Amino acid sequence: MRTRVTELFGIEYPIFAFSHCRDVVAAVSRAGGMGVLGALYFTPEELERELTWIDTHVGGRPYGVDVVMPAAYEGADLGDADELLGRLQGMIPAGHRRFLADLLAEHGVEPSTGSAGRALLGWTDQTARPQVEVALGHPIALLANALGPPPADVVARAHAHGVKVAGLVSTARHARKQVEVGVDIIVAQGTEAGGHTGDVATMVLVPEVVDAVGAGTIVLAAGGIGRGRQMAAGLALGAEGVWTGSIWLTVDEADTPERALPKLLGATSRDTVRSRAWTGKPARFLRTAWTDAWESEQSPGCLPMPMQFMLIADALPRIARSGDGELVTFPVGQIVGSMNRVTPAAQVVFDLIDEYVEAVERLNSITGG
Ligand SMILES: Cc1cc2nc3c(=O)[nH]c(=O)nc-3n(C[C@H](O)[C@H](O)[C@H](O)COP(=O)(O)O)c2cc1C
Repeated sequence: MRTRVTELFGIEYPIFAFSHCRDVVAAVSRAGGMGVLGALYFTPEELERELTWIDTHVGGRPYGVDVVMPAAYEGADLGDADELLGRLQGMIPAGHRRFLADLLAEHGVEPSTGSAGRALLGWTDQTARPQVEVALGHPIALLANALGPPPADVVARAHAHGVKVAGLVSTARHARKQVEVGVDIIVAQGTEAGGHTGDVATMVLVPEVVDAVGAGTIVLAAGGIGRGRQMAAGLALGAEGVWTGSIWLTVDEADTPERALPKLLGATSRDTVRSRAWTGKPARFLRTAWTDAWESEQSPGCLPMPMQFMLIADALPRIARSGDGELVTFPVGQIVGSMNRVTPAAQVVFDLIDEYVEAVERLNSITGG
């Protein structure tokens, strides 16, 4: 296939795969797409190790790294990560800690120690910058950023290393802001998507963004893309490629938590909800007792980013390994309804292409006939 992104990166298929799992990233890049590693949960040292592993397993194919530098969050004005952590810890209300403790007890989960430990990893400008430095020390082809335009100096540093920069957006207005700071590729992500997401559907958003940024900027379609027909639709809407996330959670190579995987495989497209109950900003998750509890009348409400995640960070591994399992949730998009079996990542790439070709042939036959 040939679009501006396949030309730009020298890849076979305009398929971008976001994943926190290095094996998935390397597998998709080797299959002709482009894997993008989510750096969020790694310390700089861990990220160094993951990227070194990818370098030796990606077969010389291009790959990318994704960081989260939110344009707005509590404590953005504090200079130092330790100062930020200490200050924000003290701002978490006792009522929220009590609500969480009761919720865990109700579901038989080990009590949380309340430690925020690794909770800020990658969530803030202060903590994401060291990740950017590590990433630029590797032969990455793309640096992506979520939750607002990346700082202009980060864009400039990436460009100085010959690295293209992508930004995720959920409105046309945000897309224009990204272009202003020099971002090369706009990922127009519709509300169907897993993880942080806006409220405009992919079908509406992609053409709006394509028109807003003009011909000079490359747009990728994201949100709800898991089949070749959806890929064809994304390209028909004016995108040069597709950016996917959810579908890689159920591939052989994925490290999706053991108790979340069967829930994902069994879910329908109606089983997700956009909730602030994980990070404090709206993100799409599997709807479970966790998301319901935070939306309930008893809920004290969710805290702003990054305090909600600081509150729950220590509880999450406990929920994953103890209790009745009802609180187990995971970020995933509406495409979860089509994710019903575990297959190798390369097979997912080939299935996307096969169905894409069929879809385009069908459209051509309609036009021709
Ligand atoms: C489990 C999960 C975690 C995600 N975490 C991030 C993240 O840290 N940074 C980011 O830019 N996007 C993140 N996303 C969003 C993806 O990059 C992508 O835009 C989205 O998954 C596309 O929609 P889809 O889920 O329908 O494929 C995440 C998505 C999922 C499913």
